[in-house]
Amino acid sequence: MYKIAVIPGDGTGPEVMREGLKVLDAAAGKTGIKCEKIMYDVGGERYKRTGEVLPDSVLDELRTTDAIYLGAVGHPDVRPGILEKGLLLKLRFSLEQYINLRPVKLYPGVWTPVKDKGPEDIDFVFVRENNEGLYVGEGEFINKGTPQEIALQVSRNTRKGVDRCLRYAFEYTKKRNKQNKLTLVGKTNVLTYAFDLWERAFNEMAKEYPTVKTDYAHVDATCMWMIKNPEWFDVLVTDNMFGDILTDLGAMVQGGMGIAAGGNINPEGVSMFEPIGGSAPKYTGKNVINPLAAICAGSMLLEELGEHEAADLIEKAVMDVTATKLKSLSAGKMGYSTSEVGDLVVEALDKV
Ligand code: IPM
Ligand code: MN
Repeated sequence: MYKIAVIPGDGTGPEVMREGLKVLDAAAGKTGIKCEKIMYDVGGERYKRTGEVLPDSVLDELRTTDAIYLGAVGHPDVRPGILEKGLLLKLRFSLEQYINLRPVKLYPGVWTPVKDKGPEDIDFVFVRENNEGLYVGEGEFINKGTPQEIALQVSRNTRKGVDRCLRYAFEYTKKRNKQNKLTLVGKTNVLTYAFDLWERAFNEMAKEYPTVKTDYAHVDATCMWMIKNPEWFDVLVTDNMFGDILTDLGAMVQGGMGIAAGGNINPEGVSMFEPIGGSAPKYTGKNVINPLAAICAGSMLLEELGEHEAADLIEKAVMDVTATKLKSLSAGKMGYSTSEVGDLVVEALDKV
């Protein structure tokens, strides 16, 4: 019996999570998995009501679960940064979810803005470091508010943090066994401290993995190649900030935020899975948002729990739905409502 914490969150989070849970339950039923779900009311509404973002008591309970399934955070009436830092980043940091795993895979029937590329070309995975870099919030103002103002924002890269991220990336590349190629993405020509460390650590670890081909690309060139030659990539590993930016580009390459899912992974602890798009407040309650990203996050959650069969079943059902049913992945243009898309995936579970 798995104990799964569910945080529907803000905006359209609850709507997409309803479908995510519908599909998770159906796939669990088919494969004989039992899940207990515990709902947590945290996010913008609770903050407005009580002033609390993530109470310690909730955090302590989350530590005792097998996985966390998160909808979306972000509320139009809450100042930017409060929920992002107080909830999402706090969870990632406190639970030491040091990997952000973000697949970029074009499913059949899905439109990509990348011309003349298809599912056979677009299938790669980002391993984004998730606990360090610019996200540590280190820095200071000097002479704030004066013409001489200086704002410092520090990127912290520890050898331990980089090594554990690289270790995961090498192991993942081997396990994935596709092109067996791992690309380090950095900016060694300018960020000569941070990416010097990354590059040294990468090259050292590469010696332990003779079957994994290694490559290096600057982050700016990576943007270019993701569009020009996406088929070159298999697994990419990079720091927190670059990973944040590149994975939004990746989401568009795979057809948009309607389908992009990710995992915040602590390989030794509690991991959290989420659609990577925001809370899309303007669509709240309209039953038009695409739930596939949340559904795919559910598949990643099961995969991390070691439930490969159930995870695979969901992914195949999603692929069947994109190939045979949806007109588009965009909110309001799918040809179906949010809940109908969830139903279609459940139906497809029987076919695949
Ligand atoms: C993401 C988001 C977050 C990030 C924000 C909401 C803090 O953009 O998950 O990519 O920057 O990591
Ligand atoms: Mn982001």
